Amino acid sequence: MSTKIKPYLFSGIKATGPLHLGNYLGAVKNWVALQNSDNYQPIISVVDLHTITIAINPAELKQNIFNMTVDLLATGIDPKKTIFFVQSAVKEHTELTWIFNCITPVIELERMTQYKDKAAQHKNNINTGLFDYPVLMAADILLYKAEVVPVGEDQEQHVELARVVARKFNQRWGAYFPEPKSLFTKTPRLMSLTEPAKKMSKDSGAKSYIALSDSPDEIVKKIKSATTDAGGGAQAGDGGKNLLDLLAQFCSDEKIVKRFQQDYENGALKYSELKPVLAQAILEVLKPWQARRQKLFQDKKYVAEVLEQGANQARTIATKNILEIKKIIGLI
Ligand code: AMP
Ligand code: TRP
Repeated sequence: MSTKIKPYLFSGIKATGPLHLGNYLGAVKNWVALQNSDNYQPIISVVDLHTITIAINPAELKQNIFNMTVDLLATGIDPKKTIFFVQSAVKEHTELTWIFNCITPVIELERMTQYKDKAAQHKNNINTGLFDYPVLMAADILLYKAEVVPVGEDQEQHVELARVVARKFNQRWGAYFPEPKSLFTKTPRLMSLTEPAKKMSKDSGAKSYIALSDSPDEIVKKIKSATTDAGGGAQAGDGGKNLLDLLAQFCSDEKIVKRFQQDYENGALKYSELKPVLAQAILEVLKPWQARRQKLFQDKKYVAEVLEQGANQARTIATKNILEIKKIIGLI
């Protein structure tokens, strides 16, 4: 029997805070679905080196890396099917970043929206890593010659940069890298609960997102206080739509979803009815994940073993490819 070699899929997530529903619906849901498909071999990484482009204290960073690992395992990343590891454990990521630095035009990085936003947010820490962030991301993907990158919409510009880098390399030294494509879910951009004109993000305070680690009480409260059209304001309509999107994702009863959608379209939606139904639907989906999360927290040894095995698997591919790359360039 011949074993089919599957193309690699790569994606990553920072350890800046807890896993939230935006991460889940925009990216992680696809990672879990695709690991069970026959089409790709997934490689998923907690990208700690990207995380340190924003100042974070050592104890918090360490805890966040562990928490993110546990959150991902709890939501369904299966280390038997997915190569799952922490980025800095495979040093070839940084090695390839340097090589890519030498072919990436500065002007391409200056265009990056995320860089401009983060530079504006962290005026006292506009470091070179923040600027070079997309090159490290290109290295993450291309180190494995990954063809598919399941991410939220906000990352499309970075994936495009990875294609630019691949093209530059191929033009200069001959065809080697594939040009990776983004893959989106049905919810490529979940909006904030408090400011529905912005995407749900760890940056805008705990009230704006629902984390996997939130208690049932917190979840009920957050949904209850979520912004809707009832409060008025120019973008308020987005808030209602966002809650309906969440309901469609989490409620298994299509009739209920349809009814609220129709009420919304007819201008007859009562948020006092929708919100408790939505909160319950989210709680039901989160319940088994939270139970698994609790268990994994007790089993630090297992979590460490999973990451070690993942790093070994990733390293096997990375060392082979970096050797080829260095030969192509003339470094060895
Ligand atoms: P990050 O937390 O920025 O490392 O993001 C990890 C993944 O989640 C990336 O693929 C993001 O594009 C995705 N993501 C983050 N926030 C959202 C959101 N509000 N809606 C959809 N996807 C998101
Ligand atoms: N930049 C991504 C984010 O903020 C995380 C990331 C790092 C990533 N390396 C990656 C995503 C490689 C996809 C592929 O969400």
